[in-house]
Amino acid sequence: MKNVLGEEAIKRWEMHAETFTAGYGDQGDLHREVVLNPTLFKLIGSVQQKHILDAGCGEGYLSRMLAKSGASVVAVDYSKKMLELAKERTPEDARIQYEYGSCDNLHFLDEKSFDLIISNMVIQDLENYQQAIKEMHRLLVDGGYFIFSILHPCFITPESGWERTKDGERLHWKVDKYHHEGVYEQALPPEQPNKLLFFHRTLTSYFSAITEAGFMIEELVEPKPSEDMLSKYPSFREDFRKSDFIVFKLRK
Ligand SMILES: C[S@@+](CC[C@H](N)C(=O)[O-])C[C@H]1O[C@@H](n2cnc3c(N)ncnc32)[C@H](O)[C@@H]1O
Repeated sequence: MKNVLGEEAIKRWEMHAETFTAGYGDQGDLHREVVLNPTLFKLIGSVQQKHILDAGCGEGYLSRMLAKSGASVVAVDYSKKMLELAKERTPEDARIQYEYGSCDNLHFLDEKSFDLIISNMVIQDLENYQQAIKEMHRLLVDGGYFIFSILHPCFITPESGWERTKDGERLHWKVDKYHHEGVYEQALPPEQPNKLLFFHRTLTSYFSAITEAGFMIEELVEPKPSEDMLSKYPSFREDFRKSDFIVFKLRK
């Protein structure tokens, strides 16, 4: 299948790799630290001795966290710039092997070679997401898990955002064009042209792609910050008004 828009999407990642990851620390950016990582690690459980694929690893923070906890990791990304940053930020003795490739075609990896696959905020960047989900199924051992997070498609749509008073105060979150599936330009990075491209799909389409690939949905989480995190980062209380992310735990 031709992947013209997917190729354009990756060009944009290549352009903005440095800007996007400039604020990353050991736990990624603030949304990852406060909202996504606690959910992901709860779903992942123990990683000791596990062989894990980080599909769409970006600058590699999650691969490094997994390797530190005892896993051996293969980390794949389709942006050479992201992989360059990841390698620079990874200690030489970390058990991480970085590979260049697209999630919808990882032919250089053997079938049934991973205990667990994690893909953090990547699937909405893929034009050919159905094929990528099938590819993850091929790569997992029987009974293995595929855990992935995406922007919540019911709240983050091609036209969504805060409705505000004329003084800029938030009234409510607006959602529009939910059933318009396809590519759209994000508002990121704010001050640069050629913004990042994402692909919107309905929850129904995700569900179909997951079951057609042969997966069972074992858990589904709409992450919220914990009370501990909220006392550290009170501005995240706003996240209770909607859900920015959704995380799937799938079993082969
Ligand atoms: C939002 S970033 C997430 C990166 C990382 N997982 C994280 O949480 O920091 C999305 C990543 O997906 C990568 N990506 C986009 N399309 C891809 C594809 N077809 N195959 C592999 N990686 C892709 C981008 O280069 C980028 O690094």
